[in-house]
Amino acid sequence: MPGIAQLSIDRLARECEVCKALGLGGVILFGIPEEKDEVASGAYAADGITQRAVRALKQEIPGLLVITDVCNCEYTSHGHCGKVDANGDVDNDATLEWLAKTAVSHACAGADIVAPSDMMDGRVGAIRKALDAAGHANTPILSYAAKYTSVFYGPFREAAESAPQFGDRRSYQMDPANGREAMREIALDLEEGADMIMVKPAMPYLDILREARTRFDAPLGAYQVSGEFSMIMAAAQNGWLDLDRAIIESLTGIRRAGADFILTYFAKRATELLG
Ligand code: PBG
Ligand code: ZN
Repeated sequence: MPGIAQLSIDRLARECEVCKALGLGGVILFGIPEEKDEVASGAYAADGITQRAVRALKQEIPGLLVITDVCNCEYTSHGHCGKVDANGDVDNDATLEWLAKTAVSHACAGADIVAPSDMMDGRVGAIRKALDAAGHANTPILSYAAKYTSVFYGPFREAAESAPQFGDRRSYQMDPANGREAMREIALDLEEGADMIMVKPAMPYLDILREARTRFDAPLGAYQVSGEFSMIMAAAQNGWLDLDRAIIESLTGIRRAGADFILTYFAKRATELLG
């Protein structure tokens, strides 16, 4: 992804100082461990990369809102978001335990919000229960409630070294042709205790955002994903689009569709442009 790099913890802290000074609403962390394994140990290790990063940010940049992505795909050797059983299928229920442990370890490290992005059934309830039991009843859950199977995640998977080594994510992510399923998924996540919901990707799913805005009162986010970012960047680098105008127009569309907040790789530039 042009202009996007993996950061060590010390460089992350410098980057986040800049973000805070610019007035960004917050940051979301995706961890890449040194070693990946079959059971995603790095995801829930007390001294895992994300846990250490959160501690450093909370210490060095007080007042910065820190959200953590809660998933296993960056930590598994096979690249799936959950536990893979003997048949090569993702075991939904076994995965819930890993996710709950991960969310608790992030909250213990000081994360302000945990954001499960795996799309396993029942994950919000499992995480809520585990957080409450561990004394983190006040840590909110931002659920990637409506997450579609998408080609637009490609650049992220390359950047995060998290492409599935076999199969795909269709058994847990949603079918792009199915709009109504998104409403069911959102309703379930809210019932299970999600405090905020998110639609992902953003631009190809603006109708989903609008519909969610109409039906639900919870804070609603949109994630302008890596492929959306990369398309705009590529066009700008070729001289085909004016970058700043493309950033603002794309984000305005997402906002107009109903997003209360937006996750975007353009956050720094957009914040500058919006002054
Ligand atoms: C998976 C995850 C994905 C992204 C972040 N976490 C999607 C996927 O690989 O299926 C994509 C983000 C982006 O494209 O910017 N938990
Ligand atoms: Zn994942």
